[in-house]
Amino acid sequence: MDTSSDGEASLTIARRSNLNWLDFVGLLFLIGLAVLPPIEEWHKQLTLLAIGATQLAEGRIVRALPRRGPWYVMLIKIGLATILVDHTGELGINSSYYPIYYLPIVTAALYFGPWGTLLWTLAASAAYCSYLVPALEQYTLPLSGMTELALRILFFFIMAMVVNRFTIENRRQTWRYQELAETLAETNRQLRQAQEEARRSERLAALGQLSAGLAHEIRNPLAVIRGSAETLSGKLQGADDLSRELAGYILSEGNRVAALVSNFLDFARPLHAAPHPTEITSLLDRVLNSVTERWQGGPVRVERQYAPNLPLVPLDESLCEQAFLNLAQNAFEAMSNTGGVLTVEVRRTASQERDGVEVRFSDNGPGVAREMREQIFNPFVTTKKTGVGLGLSIVSRIVDGHHGAIRVEESATGGACFVLFFPLEVPAETHPETPLLTEAGE
Ligand SMILES: Nc1ncnc2c1ncn2[C@@H]1O[C@H](COP(=O)(O)OP(=O)(O)OP(=O)(O)O)[C@@H](O)[C@H]1O
Ligand SMILES: [Mg+2]
Repeated sequence: MDTSSDGEASLTIARRSNLNWLDFVGLLFLIGLAVLPPIEEWHKQLTLLAIGATQLAEGRIVRALPRRGPWYVMLIKIGLATILVDHTGELGINSSYYPIYYLPIVTAALYFGPWGTLLWTLAASAAYCSYLVPALEQYTLPLSGMTELALRILFFFIMAMVVNRFTIENRRQTWRYQELAETLAETNRQLRQAQEEARRSERLAALGQLSAGLAHEIRNPLAVIRGSAETLSGKLQGADDLSRELAGYILSEGNRVAALVSNFLDFARPLHAAPHPTEITSLLDRVLNSVTERWQGGPVRVERQYAPNLPLVPLDESLCEQAFLNLAQNAFEAMSNTGGVLTVEVRRTASQERDGVEVRFSDNGPGVAREMREQIFNPFVTTKKTGVGLGLSIVSRIVDGHHGAIRVEESATGGACFVLFFPLEVPAETHPETPLLTEAGE
């Protein structure tokens, strides 16, 4: 039987599995058959009843058994048609009810492909012709009888092929619409993602300018405060403990604020991405080895899954080194209590019709809650006691500087999976070192 029709059959099944008013109209016609002679032949009436029941149950049968259901329905219908023909004529082959075979033939055309339909039509024709065997024991078959029989059988096949063609065309149309709907949904999803990323870039740029302006304004008075505190501490060597302690606080806290300001400026400093063709896997290896060597928490294993024959990617090595370092560091920190595996995958891919390379950092730490997935890219968002919350915002800016994209998903093990995309073609305007952000006032 035509196995290629499996998918087709399931489509048809979905369409035909519920009862509808047309089934009941079909039953009315069967009742019409019941009131035509021979009326008192109860075998005939019972068979018609069984045919009606099969028609009604057909949807349920194929829904419950999507693969074998259509086969069962076909066997039942051919069997019932054959019984009906037997009980409606003195000789089965002469019965006027022979068109009842159209029922299984049309059913086959609806559920199966062209070869399946042909074979089932052949089976129905053979069942009908089987009445020739007992008839030929008593009668002869004249030429006109043979012609009539051939006509009937040929019409079976013609009907089967016409309905099957129409059904296949219908299914193709449905697939085309389904494909179109899927493409539209995918385009929509990509558009939403691109919008989200664009919003994030704008937000980071604005925040960068704001923090740069603020840091710049704080830096000068802070330098004066720290200088004065240092001088004051020197002058207070012989003074009482409390004065020395207070001067010490001014100095140490001043230094802390200075470190914070310097972090601000690191984040907000104009980003000069100067991409050069780079072997991304050796850059990753360097970063992963250095993070592993410095790591002092629980046992973390690094697994590398690099696709073969990767192209050179236009990357600014030192910026990307920092980005990969931040991501690897985060993954190690996420698994610091329990230990775990950081899987780094690199493969060639396309995103929004741009050819590029995708890097995935997946860990089996606690993962990132859905509602935090956009926020963690904002500066100063942290859940760590000693974190500053700048790591991912810097990564995000570096990826933007390469005209790439970054998103976070759930990894296969329920941890976090950061997915980075770097295009192979970088627009020409990035090559002259264009600052992404300008530090206000500088
Ligand atoms: N691999 C990860 N698994 C789970 N949560 C993560 C992961 N990476 C980042 N996060 C969450 O995102 C937050 C922000 O990360 P980000 O790197 O920006 O800052 P941080 O690591 O807290 O501080 P730092 O500035 O020192 O890097 C983290 O505090 C953490 O809650
Ligand atoms: Mg971090």
